[in-house]
Amino acid sequence: MTNLKLANAQSASLDVDAVVIGVVTDDSGPVLAPGAAGIDEAFQGRLVDALSGLGAGGKAGEVTKVPTFGSLAAPLVVAVGLGESYDAEALRRAAGVALRSLAGSGSVAVRLPAATADEVAAVATGALLGNYAYLNYRTGDGDKRPVSEITVVTETDDEVESALERARTIAEAVTLVRDLVNAPPSDLNPEVLAETAREVGEEAGLSVEVLDEKALVEGGYGGIVGVGQGSVNPPRLVRLAYEHPEADKTVAFVGKGITFDSGGLSLKPSEAMDWMKSDMGGAGAVLGALKAIAALRPKVKVVGYLAIAENMPSGTAQRPSDVLTIYGGKTVEVLNTDAEGRLVMADAIVRAGEDEPDLIVDVATLTGAQLVALGTRTTGIMANDDDVREKVAGAAGRAGESAWPMPLPEELRKGLDSAIADIANISGERWGGMLVAGIFLKEFVPDGVRWAHLDIAGPSFNQGQPYGYTPKGGTGAAVRTLVQIAEDAAAGAL
Ligand code: BES
Ligand code: MN
Ligand code: ZN
Repeated sequence: MTNLKLANAQSASLDVDAVVIGVVTDDSGPVLAPGAAGIDEAFQGRLVDALSGLGAGGKAGEVTKVPTFGSLAAPLVVAVGLGESYDAEALRRAAGVALRSLAGSGSVAVRLPAATADEVAAVATGALLGNYAYLNYRTGDGDKRPVSEITVVTETDDEVESALERARTIAEAVTLVRDLVNAPPSDLNPEVLAETAREVGEEAGLSVEVLDEKALVEGGYGGIVGVGQGSVNPPRLVRLAYEHPEADKTVAFVGKGITFDSGGLSLKPSEAMDWMKSDMGGAGAVLGALKAIAALRPKVKVVGYLAIAENMPSGTAQRPSDVLTIYGGKTVEVLNTDAEGRLVMADAIVRAGEDEPDLIVDVATLTGAQLVALGTRTTGIMANDDDVREKVAGAAGRAGESAWPMPLPEELRKGLDSAIADIANISGERWGGMLVAGIFLKEFVPDGVRWAHLDIAGPSFNQGQPYGYTPKGGTGAAVRTLVQIAEDAAAGAL
């Protein structure tokens, strides 16, 4: 991982390949943000003129590169726009944009506003997350290598070390998830994902339990077994647990871990299939969050379930019209094998009830309808309790992740009535597919347990251009929200 360092503004060495500064927009034009002052001196106070001359206005996302011609030890100043005013997320994005624009450089000093520990954490997190490249399958030396050393320059000494450590922890967790999502599904089948979870979990000091295909059949996990039975790569259920000795609340996270979703016999068309390696993003997020939580040690108990299978068509695949028995006994008529996520999630949600959680949060790349409703970047939040939905939305906002509350209208339940089983896995109702999937999952939430459901179908995988600190491909969506939820639960705020 990138070497992340801290330096005080007074003593910071500028012997780096580039110095990043911030620019704010103002009615009168671009204005240097706090942190940039020392750099302006090297330009004899004419940095703003130089930036204006280059067309910089300070708009968020804007990057302007200015050569220093020897006036600084660093050959390049990179001015990044912060918009009219900036919050933590604006700092994360600006740092991320800057680092992305510097891929291939060796060392970078970041002199964005970093006057408080929170600002230091935001700048460091954004820089680390923007400085991401997935190179596992590239041969030869491209110019896309991430920066090897990032120095965050700050004016404060207050708790900056722990802010930096937090940034590292969060970035490492998000990076893990991005790597898993980006991995080709031939190399990340259910067994590999489960064994990776075991290794990551044990390394982090979590207790880890892995159920293989035999244990899943014996245990009655009909959803995971049914979805997995069409693949030569058999399914898994992973349980990870973290417990602080002074914990008095338990939170359960459940993640969808479909390592590849072909749709099964209800086969997807090619253009909908080629990004379905990302269908384990929910399980990835749960694993990443547990890893970070084990390092941050909040006073809470957290269990994580990864419901893992590969959804493939074959002579052994489940058929549309098969009936499965979910863990705990409810039956489901599978009318469309492409609505597989809800089947594996149902098993894991019921099982999570055995940990007697105060709250279950599930995370899944569940529906294309999420993208229709909320677009590619905003997670849909549904819940069986208004208060929980609002609190989860609040946690996502504080974590810097875009998420929005959505309803679970009761009238949608009747569309899931099955002619022969307790419930069908698709609805006769055409509209509101994200909500229908949420209604389906709600049926499996243990009585009396508060539950929230995050549909991250769009946010988990960026098919478009990179933006802010978000690269193309796997994004690590929901990791930071889950960590925030665990911390909120520890603080008694959930
Ligand atoms: N994994 C998909 C949902 C998805 C779509 C995730 C696009 C990311 C991007 C899920 O398993 C699925 O296929 N859902 C179906 C459900 C339908 C058959 C009721 C869908 O949304 O089309
Ligand atoms: Mn599917
Ligand atoms: Zn799926």
